[in-house]
Amino acid sequence: MAGRIPQPFIDELLARTDIVELVGGRVQLKRAGREWKACCPFHAEKTPSFWVSPEKQFYHCFGCGAHGTALGFLMEHDKLPFPDAVDELASRLGLEVPREDDGRGTRARPGEDLYELLAQVSQFYRDTLRESARAKKYLADREITPETCVKFAIGYAPNSWDAVLKRFGGSAERERLLADAGLVIERSGKGESGFYDRFRDRVMFPIRDARGRVIAFGGRIIDEGEPKYLNSPETALFHKGRELYGLYEARQALRKIERLLVVEGYVDVARLAQSGIAYAVATLGTATTPEHLNRLFRVTSELVFCFDGDRAGRAAAWRALENALEHARDGRQLRFLFLPDGHDPDTLVGEEGPEAFEARLATAQPLSEFLVTQLAAQADLANLDGRARLAELVRPLLARVPAGVYQELLLERLAQEVRMPAGRLAELLKGRPEKPRGRRPAPGRTPVSAGRHPLLTQAIMLLLHHPSAARAVTEPPAFLQGDYKGFSVLLELLEMAKATPELSTAQLIERWRERPEGARLAELAAEESLVRDGRAAGRDLVMALKRMAAEFGPDKRLNELIAVSRERKLTSEEQQEFQRLLGERSGSAGA
Ligand code: UTP
Ligand code: MN
Repeated sequence: MAGRIPQPFIDELLARTDIVELVGGRVQLKRAGREWKACCPFHAEKTPSFWVSPEKQFYHCFGCGAHGTALGFLMEHDKLPFPDAVDELASRLGLEVPREDDGRGTRARPGEDLYELLAQVSQFYRDTLRESARAKKYLADREITPETCVKFAIGYAPNSWDAVLKRFGGSAERERLLADAGLVIERSGKGESGFYDRFRDRVMFPIRDARGRVIAFGGRIIDEGEPKYLNSPETALFHKGRELYGLYEARQALRKIERLLVVEGYVDVARLAQSGIAYAVATLGTATTPEHLNRLFRVTSELVFCFDGDRAGRAAAWRALENALEHARDGRQLRFLFLPDGHDPDTLVGEEGPEAFEARLATAQPLSEFLVTQLAAQADLANLDGRARLAELVRPLLARVPAGVYQELLLERLAQEVRMPAGRLAELLKGRPEKPRGRRPAPGRTPVSAGRHPLLTQAIMLLLHHPSAARAVTEPPAFLQGDYKGFSVLLELLEMAKATPELSTAQLIERWRERPEGARLAELAAEESLVRDGRAAGRDLVMALKRMAAEFGPDKRLNELIAVSRERKLTSEEQQEFQRLLGERSGSAGA
């Protein structure tokens, strides 16, 4: 188990992430005064009730009650577990997630030596390329320049059963590590033992992770032979269905990635980049997985899938479409480009040049068009049966698209195609009632205060909305200790806010994530605050604390007795108590 993620790191992530930008990458936001609004991504609606506050770094939907920080948004929206949401924010910022020492010593994390080994072997392949006339000629014939080889760290695995094994093996432990890295294979025949190199006589394309570390290789055979490409096996570091070849290189080459082009091959990526189209990535011999799509949409909101124009290409495109539906939504563009039969981007860009190739990109079919034309081709829309069949085909597909404007557009586009009013098509599609997507407030949530006293709530809200208000509180409100459960929450909030004056609402809320009061605090943070100005908030907070002291502190009894004395004469016991309390009060004030 990895250790905990330290709180200061979460603080840093939230401080450096802009929630408006993060949410805006997934939902189309419109400015509304100091805040931003949109149709809520968590429930179906036509008028926007989803708000994002740059000041609080917090989002809130008045319709379904969804709310939270940037981390919370990633968890809800991208369906990520907390550590993955942290990873995601960190990788956006190019940060490494630190882990607190979990008491099991400070041994290097598993994987650390694998990375090191892969880096060394990658360098070895590059060195070998320099000495291999054969490999250099192959690359030259394919019009891959030496500069491109440097950019993509392309190398060559020598024609040998043990070049890597000899050079990087050395001990049983090292050999095991080489096998774990997928670089050597254990002999398994009768009476055989030991290892041999996996990659022999191949042009080597290192696959790098988001931070540029080599995690695997793809090796192309020189000339003819089977398999044409040999990839590293799945290892601790490499999961084929998740990685995208060229993504790291694209991020290196471009300051801002406007769009990404998803192609099939290593050479396509390299060749396109060489022609100035630096935004191509490739899946590694697999269909585009949902994980790929998640990754891609974290980088950009515009994707173009590039396929062969033949039947296999269309089939592959349809599989990509099925996986992409869940990711289709307002503000995102998903398009499909079909190349002429027998061409891949590599040859095409070579033949016609980058301008012509980019002009093709501009004509790529939007997801909705591709969907509609493919479907329409499968059903005879002239008759009733055909339309019913279309509805059958569409229903499961449309159900995958998140509710929202995009879903409606798709429905309208379909209706147009089948020449049916959108309302009727919607009726036709309503086989079963859609379950509500919006999140309702969870029942049985732990209340912050037993009595939910309005003053207490007010003070907590002021602090949540304006953490800097804590600066105005100069005296420690010790009187608050005691009966009300919410008091300790208030005190703790006050302490947190005082300790770190620049804390944002989101940072404050994240500190309570794992605690029972966290949910209620997030709810209060989402509530609209009437106080807009930080200085006013400080004043109001001090006032609320004073009034609470009068109501709940030792002064409470004093005030009660004063009130009673106005009604009637105090009993002698009451008088004694009054004197004692008064004495205590002046005593503590003088101390
Ligand atoms: P293609 O067979 O379409 O080859 O494989 P390509 O990319 O055009 O290769 P070149 O131009 O002849 O060099 C597309 C991708 O499928 C995976 C690789 O990732 C390849 O880039 N693939 C293909 C394999 O993993 N193994 C194979 O044997 C073939
Ligand atoms: Mn090719």
